Amino acid sequence: MVENILKPLDLTDDRYRKVMDLLKQNLDEGLHPDTHANANVKCFPTYVRSVPDGSENGDFLALDLGGTNFRVLLINLNGQEVTMESKIYIIPQHIMLGSGDQLFDHIADCIFKFMCDHKLHDRTLPLGFTFSFPCRQVGLDRAILTTWTKGFKCDGVEGRDIVELLHAAIQRRGDMKNVRCLAVINDTVGALMSCAHSDRNCAIGLILGTGTNACYIEELSSVKTWDGDYNDPKQVLINTEWGAFGNNGCLDFILTDFDRSIDKHSINPGKQIYEKMISGMYMGEIARLAIERLRKHNLLFEGEGSYHLSTRGRFYTKYVSEIEGDDVDNFTVTKQIFDELELASHTEQDCRLVRHVCSLVSKRAAYLASAGIACLLNKMGRKEATVGVDGSLYRFHPFFHDLMMEKISQLIRPNLSFKLMLSHDGSGKGAALVAAVAARLEKKEQE
Ligand code: GLC
Repeated sequence: MVENILKPLDLTDDRYRKVMDLLKQNLDEGLHPDTHANANVKCFPTYVRSVPDGSENGDFLALDLGGTNFRVLLINLNGQEVTMESKIYIIPQHIMLGSGDQLFDHIADCIFKFMCDHKLHDRTLPLGFTFSFPCRQVGLDRAILTTWTKGFKCDGVEGRDIVELLHAAIQRRGDMKNVRCLAVINDTVGALMSCAHSDRNCAIGLILGTGTNACYIEELSSVKTWDGDYNDPKQVLINTEWGAFGNNGCLDFILTDFDRSIDKHSINPGKQIYEKMISGMYMGEIARLAIERLRKHNLLFEGEGSYHLSTRGRFYTKYVSEIEGDDVDNFTVTKQIFDELELASHTEQDCRLVRHVCSLVSKRAAYLASAGIACLLNKMGRKEATVGVDGSLYRFHPFFHDLMMEKISQLIRPNLSFKLMLSHDGSGKGAALVAAVAARLEKKEQE
C-alpha cells in the first residue's frame, strides 16, 4: 500500500528523457516569432550580451525582489574584488497581494531608509534591479512584467514597465533625485553573471529557491525574436522562464494527485507547472500531502494526525532538508519536527517512512531540474560549461547538489562536461555588474 501511494513520485529515466525532449521543443517555440506568442517557455532575450570582464568599477545600489526576502544593497566593484553591505526589508503579505503602487511605494521607502542609514543621499548612484519575475525586456532598463509568479499578485503591474513604476514611486517621494535604475535583470542572470566574474566558462544561471528558472547564453542567429542590434558579441542571455513549462498540459504524464492538488489551491492555478514540482515554495507541501495520504490509510502515526499536519503550507520545505539531513540512528531533528507539528505519537518506523517520503519528493525535484539543465547543456553543445546556481533550496538541502551531479552526468551527451558552481550573492553582485556595464555605455555615448 505504501508503495502504491508513493510510486507516482518515483520516475524512470525514460520519463526524465521525455521531459528533456519536451523542454527542447518548448525552448525552440519560445525563441521563434511564429510560435512565441503561444509558447509556455517564453525564452525572453535579456539585453545582457556579455559577461563581466573584471574591469567593472565603482559604487552601485542594487535591489533584489522576488526571492525569500527583499533586499537593498550597496556594492563596491573593484576589478575582481567585490564588497557589499545589504539590508533585508520585509514585504508584508498584504503588500504582496495588494496594489502595484503600494508595492513600489514600499520599495521606495526601503531605498530611502537604506540611503539614510548609509549616509548616501548626496551621492548619485546607478541602481541595478534584480526583479525575479517573467519580464519581456525592451531594453536593459525596460522590463514589462508579463505575469506575477510565486507568492506575488499586485494589481496594476502586469503589462507595465517596472522601471517606470519604480521611478514614479521615487518621484512621488520627491527626496531621492539621485537614484536612477539603469538595468533590470532576472535572478538567473545575476547567478550567471556573478559566477562568470570568476569562471569564464559559466554559460548557465540556475535558481532553485522559492521558484525555479534558468538562463543561458544563446547565439543571436538562433534567437529569431531578437530585435536589438547585431554587433559583437553575437550572443545574448536568454531568460527561459522554464517554471511555466507544462502549462499547456505537456507534463501531465508525470503529474501526481499531490501536484494537481497544489496547483488547484495555488494563487495561480494552471500556471508554473514545472516550478510547482521543483521549487522550495511547493516542495514541503508535496511532502505534506503524501504524508497525509499515508496517515489517512493508517500507515503513519497510527492514523492520528494533527491540526498542523492538516494545514496547507505548514510542512515547510526546510523540514524536508532537515529530515533528510538528520541522523538516522536517533532521528533527533525529525522527532523535534513531529513535536512542533503536535503529532501525539510517533515511532522510529514513522521517522523512517517520513524521511523516505521527503527523499522521494526532493529526488524528483532534483532530477527534474537536472533534466532541464541537461537539455540546455546538450542544446549549447559546449565541451565544458559551468552552471552558476543560487537559491535556498540548492543551498540548504543536504543532497540536492549530489543528486543533480549524478543525474545531469547521466543525461548529457558523453562528450560534454560541466560543473555546478554555487553563486555567492548573485542577485546583488549581478545587478551591480550589469548596472556597471550600462553606466559605462552611457558615459561613452555622452562623450
Ligand atoms: C519564478 C520567476 C522567475 C524567477 C524564478 C526564481 O519562476 O518567474 O523569473 O527567476 O522564480 O526566482
